[in-house]
Amino acid sequence: MKARAPNAWALALVAAAAAGSAGAQGVSRLRCEGLVEPAVLDCAAPRFSWAMDSGARGARQRAYQLSIADLTPGAAPLAEIARVDSDDSQWVVAPGFKPKPGASYSWRVRVWDERGRDLGWSAPAAFAMGLMGRPWPAKWMGDGAEVPLNAAPPARYFRARFYAGAPPARARLYVSALGIVEPWLNGQRVGRDYFSPGWPDYRRRAYYVAYDVTGLARRGANVIGLVLGDGWYSGTLMQNRQAGKEPLVSAFLEMTDASGAVSVFATDSRWQCATGPITAQGIYFGESFDARLDDPGWCDPSAKGSAWAWKPVHVADSGRIALTARISPPVRACEEIRPVGCREVRPGVFLYDMGQNIVGWARLSARVPAGREVVMRFGEMLDGPDRIYTANLRGANATARYTGNGSSGQAWEPRFTYFGFRYVEVSGLARLGPDNLTGVVVQADLERIGRFECSNPLLNQLYANTLWSQRGNFLEIPTDCPQRDERLGWTGDAQVFSDTANYNYACGPFYRQWLASLRDGYVDDQRGQAGFPDVAPDTGGLGYGSAGWGDAAVIVPYVTWLHTGDRRLLEENFPAIQRWVEAMARDNPDGIRRSRRSYGDWLAPGFSPDKAPTPYVLIATAYFARDVDIARRVAGELRRESARVRDEALLRKVRAAFRREFIAEDGRVASDQQTAYLLAIGFDLVPQALSAKVEAQLARTFAQKRYHLATGFLGTPLVMPVLGRIGREDLAYRVLEQESYPGWLFSVRNGATTIWERWDGWTPAAGFNTPSMNSFNHYAYGSVVGWFYGTIAGLRPDPEAPGWRGFRVEPSPGGGLSRAGASVETPYGTASSNWRISRGVFELAVAVPPGTSARVSIPAASTDQVKEGGAPLASLAQASGLADASGRATFRLESGSFVFRSPYRAEP
Ligand code: BGC
Repeated sequence: MKARAPNAWALALVAAAAAGSAGAQGVSRLRCEGLVEPAVLDCAAPRFSWAMDSGARGARQRAYQLSIADLTPGAAPLAEIARVDSDDSQWVVAPGFKPKPGASYSWRVRVWDERGRDLGWSAPAAFAMGLMGRPWPAKWMGDGAEVPLNAAPPARYFRARFYAGAPPARARLYVSALGIVEPWLNGQRVGRDYFSPGWPDYRRRAYYVAYDVTGLARRGANVIGLVLGDGWYSGTLMQNRQAGKEPLVSAFLEMTDASGAVSVFATDSRWQCATGPITAQGIYFGESFDARLDDPGWCDPSAKGSAWAWKPVHVADSGRIALTARISPPVRACEEIRPVGCREVRPGVFLYDMGQNIVGWARLSARVPAGREVVMRFGEMLDGPDRIYTANLRGANATARYTGNGSSGQAWEPRFTYFGFRYVEVSGLARLGPDNLTGVVVQADLERIGRFECSNPLLNQLYANTLWSQRGNFLEIPTDCPQRDERLGWTGDAQVFSDTANYNYACGPFYRQWLASLRDGYVDDQRGQAGFPDVAPDTGGLGYGSAGWGDAAVIVPYVTWLHTGDRRLLEENFPAIQRWVEAMARDNPDGIRRSRRSYGDWLAPGFSPDKAPTPYVLIATAYFARDVDIARRVAGELRRESARVRDEALLRKVRAAFRREFIAEDGRVASDQQTAYLLAIGFDLVPQALSAKVEAQLARTFAQKRYHLATGFLGTPLVMPVLGRIGREDLAYRVLEQESYPGWLFSVRNGATTIWERWDGWTPAAGFNTPSMNSFNHYAYGSVVGWFYGTIAGLRPDPEAPGWRGFRVEPSPGGGLSRAGASVETPYGTASSNWRISRGVFELAVAVPPGTSARVSIPAASTDQVKEGGAPLASLAQASGLADASGRATFRLESGSFVFRSPYRAEP
């Protein structure tokens, strides 16, 4: 199909048109520790990153200079740091800079380009430090009541009044909680974060956050307020699990006057607590709000009084709680959605359709008579034309209730809960229209960096569905699902999805924080019971070390390092990785990992969830090898020689054991399932001598299924990469483009707007699958999207130069595609690869950011056939190392934008 020039292609050409011209020059994308203006860094040497902007070909930074200013009132100015001749622009430590606890800084950077020209100073960016070992000066307080299992108690309101003699020149509010807290100051909500300070492994730590409240604090009377919900602490998680009984909060306000004098006001026995309008709340439960009980002046110093029954707080003895600065970006409301439909389905019952399965909540804007209750129920699907489907929410009550006070113009939204939904059923009012309800999308506030587009609208929809499932399940931690009474950090789901996730969003600090929970949950009883938890944060007793699950602690840091180049991810996780590898070696002396329990190739079609035929022991041994392989690479990267040598020997042993135990002479791998072959090939477990046979067997298993999938959570992510790797991209495309069950496009064909947990979550013939496990928003099968970026468009990070300093541009046209493209906002700038086939010509537009280089591989009989801007490739100054290899021209490409053309025969 030759449509008009598509967006991605047109944009690529516009970018390419800038090739050779200088373009905008300067410095941008300032990050500190990989974050946009972080507020609580807890490290002795923060690392700085920036991008040099230039459209010039061959652009590259030659030198840089950092400047850091202490913003603490009364602080002495810092000396400018000397110019450094280096092309480093990522994770750079400022020589001689020693940050002070709690201090705020502003920094900027100046760069010189490849011709030695000064591109000037960047705009400034801020960062602030956390406690850095300083003691937490505040007490922990609660309301003294314990929360029973499965209860949904009212939110607790805390407040205290204090006087400031002078207007503070700087005020910072530090907050921690066992539970989730919304801070207020002088009648204003502080910040825009939800579910703060987050969800750690509470047995080991609590997180804290800090907000700059200089603009809210004032001279004279001030009131601080804290609203505390149960969240993941005293809220009951699947099933009957509770981290603690009494939610607690602790906070302090640090004020600095113009002379630099510091005063602190902290939580203690002087505070009061009360219940207010939030009469019930819980993550699975939902939220109930009675507007008649609201008191807008509850933390306003000028309010005359309060109708609430304020009482003394319970000061808890929690001195042993270890406090850790939060590093992951907060959860925020990131988008609003207008309903695409609103119908009265029964008298007084309205059904809203958001047109998209989202995660968050709905905002109700309506006049609700005093005492009238409006009930909002949420569902992902419809069960018949007029009824939302809620059976798959299992025990999650997932309902929002609002009781009116008769005033008009009121808008209300819950905030101590969230829902996974496309449909909302609203009852309690006689008249409602589309304007009365807004969908609020709530997610970790990460930067979207990746984009993909191609000529097949179904694949584009699959891509969009994956993106939405990531957004919906990147809520504080990577969760399995957002709707039923589960929503846990299932590690298997997370590891298979981590490559895709890192393409779509800047996930470094998000995963870095979650990995701490994985490490916190590690167990080893020295008697064959070792492993990282199957869910992190560990909610207790859901399993440890299951093959493909606990292995996330090894795989996710490595994959995330490839995408971000953040070595600290490796340094922080390596000891735990190595400990785990050694425990496996100890417990499995013959190299076969006889895992006790597992989930197998979870949810492979046609079997009950954990009964897929690929043997557990095979899967476990394959992951044993995978872990050891990563461990030795990480050891090499970190120059831990003795560990690397040991890991290499262990890897040889496990590979040999796998070969002995599972691969037959005719190339059959035990159980003869797609997944068994995919693991064997994908994790490098097939000896050279047998590889042709094993590959032929794999191809046969796909032919036998008429090019459908027989894979579950663990086999599916390997389908496309492995078929490609054995030179069968034709097969890969054939499987990918399959529209019938079981295949990726089946759910798309059936109207999915997110990735389903099961291949057959709903079918025209059988309707809904079993409600006990049937999420319509589970990202695991969306793991194929990494292949969209990395192989269809051909854009992928290079392990030799992680974090996109070096990358591949290796597009693989195939199937019915006539064009495809992807871009990634890398730390150095935009990298992109967009191709199209038109009139027998393969055209490829490539953007390589300043300071990076790409290894390009274009389908072409030889490099002589490739032209750039009409000129032979050999004359392109930025291309080097030209070589021909089996139908592809390869070369190394320096920065700039380019359009390559080569004759192409196999036009689709
Ligand atoms: C979750 C999965 C998870 C699995 C473990 C399910 O309940 O939703 O996604 O990985 O349990 O087997």
